[in-house]
Amino acid sequence: MTETTEVYSAHLPGFQETAFIKGHEEYQALHKRSLEDPDAFWAEQAEKYLSWQQKWEHVLEYDFPQGKISWFGGAKLNATYNCLDRHIDTIGEKTAYFWEGDDPNQSLSLTYKELYQKVNKAAAALKAKGLKKGDRVVIYMPMVPELAIAMLACARLGVIHSIVFGGFSAESLANRINDCGAKMVITADGSFRSGKTIPLKNAVDAALPNCPEVENVLVLDRCGLGLTLGENESWWHEVMADPDLPDYVEPEPMDAEDPLFILYTSGSTGKPKGVVHTHGGYLLYAAMTTRITFDLKDDEVFWCTADIGWITGHTYLVYGPLINGLTGLIFEGVPSYPGFDRFWQVVEKYQVSKFYTAPTVIRSVAKEGAAMVDKYDLSSLRLLGTVGEPINPEAWRWYYEHVGKSRCPIVDTWWQTETGGHMMTPLPGVHELKPGSCAQPFFGVDPVIIDPDTGEPARYPNQEGVLCIRKPWPGMARTVFGDHKRFIETYFSQVPGMYFTGDGAKYDEDGYFWIIGRIDDVINVSGHRLGTAEIESALVAHRDVAEAAVVGFPHPVKGQGIYAFVTLNTGVGKTDEIKKELVKMVRSEIGPVATPDVIQWADALPKTRSGKILRRMLQKIAAGDIKEMGDTTTIADPSVLEQLIKERVASTA
Ligand code: PRX
Repeated sequence: MTETTEVYSAHLPGFQETAFIKGHEEYQALHKRSLEDPDAFWAEQAEKYLSWQQKWEHVLEYDFPQGKISWFGGAKLNATYNCLDRHIDTIGEKTAYFWEGDDPNQSLSLTYKELYQKVNKAAAALKAKGLKKGDRVVIYMPMVPELAIAMLACARLGVIHSIVFGGFSAESLANRINDCGAKMVITADGSFRSGKTIPLKNAVDAALPNCPEVENVLVLDRCGLGLTLGENESWWHEVMADPDLPDYVEPEPMDAEDPLFILYTSGSTGKPKGVVHTHGGYLLYAAMTTRITFDLKDDEVFWCTADIGWITGHTYLVYGPLINGLTGLIFEGVPSYPGFDRFWQVVEKYQVSKFYTAPTVIRSVAKEGAAMVDKYDLSSLRLLGTVGEPINPEAWRWYYEHVGKSRCPIVDTWWQTETGGHMMTPLPGVHELKPGSCAQPFFGVDPVIIDPDTGEPARYPNQEGVLCIRKPWPGMARTVFGDHKRFIETYFSQVPGMYFTGDGAKYDEDGYFWIIGRIDDVINVSGHRLGTAEIESALVAHRDVAEAAVVGFPHPVKGQGIYAFVTLNTGVGKTDEIKKELVKMVRSEIGPVATPDVIQWADALPKTRSGKILRRMLQKIAAGDIKEMGDTTTIADPSVLEQLIKERVASTA
């Protein structure tokens, strides 16, 4: 991360007078209280943001070494009652969602009442298929309203949803279906992307022969592909039109600690983990962070561009906005179709006031020039947000000046799938803005930088270390589905007594935090988190590959690109044909999101004498940063390194 001393004022027009948090003093006082008396602080927020069927026996109980965290235990509520039922009498006619298709001529909107009716129907349909509280359903759908409806229908019944992003392959889908033991898959015939049709159902067909527990498949007719469905497969529209289905399904009373959903995310080792979030704490944290971070007022239109298949979509496109009764925008398309001005055209069309996207999107549109933005009236915008990866100051400035016209604060929100919601972010009207810094912690969050050598907190500003969190917050994950031991090992064993984020970070003289990036073998490609181990195992599955090591390297648009060093079996020729097969292999094992950018043949990989791959050195080679190789004395055979450097230089010259 480039360091910068640039500071932009917190005093932007419109925020001082009306912001929910009025200035730094109020922020500090509230933050202090949230840490000193979490029970009282969070009980108050729980009353304010959610409707409970039964109150809690305790607010917080926890034991980090055992990975046990409980918020509002004994309390009862239902997510969809909070998102829908309680709004019907007051804001039933308000737009819950605008939906804009990949094709600019396709759009629709849904009021809260319409959404409520559809969710009830869908819940009735799922119930009729035998689904009940605690069952799991995997949803593999494009960005259409039915995706949100399917999630909410599950939540209404207490069925645990697990959404798999449409960019994952059949293999990844099958792994997730089996890991969570899903009884049903909800999908679509296809999805539209940049005017092309992607055959989503094909992936489901390829996955299901390996998924014996799936009993039913529900298929949305999104693209009119005219598929013939198999046994135990039904069309969404036919099922929903069944005249015998009731119009109303009682929302299942859920314990605050009952799981709401499972979402798979990559770690440094092994297969992706099924992170579990709850009904009580997660929903409260989603609701509060949505309202406060974006300073969302009731009459505003909020557009979070993330796919619902990622945590950002779960929290800031579905649960957070709906609990607050806000109007959200679901966009099916991409920033570049039909042209690179699509996002700004959509902002103007729907008069979006708060806009939340990823740095990779900013970089990809910025390179097309500011004229693409300037031709639209973006005066409705009041605040911009970013998430998913560190934002480079150049991209930040471009966003601030060209999209925000130097009058909209940018909230650079740092958080993770496991944290459920924002952990650190500037608050509008409260924090000064420093491009590239995620400023200060949200309420209830107690971050600390740990010196990896001593295990002690950093002693001075700008000392780099590992970011840990000292206390629980309501939105944190509760377990890894089916593997609580892994939950403890990953998050609570590295630095005893704390939640371990896996991110390197530091704070500056003003107590502002700066995220440096992952310290583990996780790479962040266009804001998508991928484990290098997963990509390596896809590569070594090729018959000609002996060994592979994957690292990230700086990429001008994606943030990080994927660089693979591959050793072929003896006697196999290093052909472009094999490179193509390897790319195909990764795409089919994981999905297009994990497509390698560079494959370099390696006769051997640099290893320690005990056989451990020296990844730090490979990272330097991939980045072209070969002058400072650091300590090379641990390497068993230095000639391996020289060879790789030579070939890297040759391949990029
Ligand atoms: O490395 C951090 C980076 O993304 C990781 C979390 O990825 P994921 O679980 O997929 O969630 C992404 C959306 C919340 C973090 O460990 N990251 C996320 N937001 C930021 C960030 N890095 C720097 N600045 C951010 N604002």
